[in-house]
Amino acid sequence: MTDRTLYIVTCGAPLAARLCDGVRAARERGWNPYVIPTDAALPWLADQDLAGVPVLTGNRKPGEPKRTPKADAVVVAPLTFNSLNAWANGNANTYPLTILCAALGARTPTAAVPFAKHDLAGHPAWLASLAVLRYAGVRIIDPHDGSPSSVRPLESGTGDQVSSDFQWAWILPSLDEGSD
Ligand SMILES: Cc1cc2nc3c(=O)[nH]c(=O)nc-3n(C[C@H](O)[C@H](O)[C@H](O)COP(=O)(O)O)c2cc1C
Repeated sequence: MTDRTLYIVTCGAPLAARLCDGVRAARERGWNPYVIPTDAALPWLADQDLAGVPVLTGNRKPGEPKRTPKADAVVVAPLTFNSLNAWANGNANTYPLTILCAALGARTPTAAVPFAKHDLAGHPAWLASLAVLRYAGVRIIDPHDGSPSSVRPLESGTGDQVSSDFQWAWILPSLDEGSD
């Protein structure tokens, strides 16, 4: 058992199909994970065995106790174009976005895997939002090869292949204490 809490936020794109591997990899590295999906991610979660990891959807009701310990780190994988821009703009109108905005404000160590095709990534908000998140200290990871220095949009029709080649080991070590 571990006392290091990891929030895994997942958005509505094909890489959400690898969430079960993410929770397993997180546990192997000594994290206690909580899954926080957007509504659009839910269809990808339906058939996955998340090994009993809590899945938190929607806000708790006023007066309900907190459902999670404070996060020691946050992962967002995949990060859709929609959530990337909302997060960078400080839009907190859903539970996952509130978690992400609060993580940024608290400077909680956070890694994100932006996942969008060229046509969405061609929108000027893509580069602006990535710059905001990098400025705030978010580790931005390329979904193709784990590169921390540049992120490539996906070629159309490659989402499933990129997802199946993706390795959670590209992200999790960067969140260990003392890593840059
Ligand atoms: C099959 C399918 C694949 C999708 N793939 C992507 C994707 O790779 N990247 C992306 O940004 N949006 C993708 N979308 C669109 C998002 O799911 C949509 O923009 C949604 O509103 C995102 O919501 P969220 O950011 O709250 O998860 C896809 C949608 C579907 C149905």
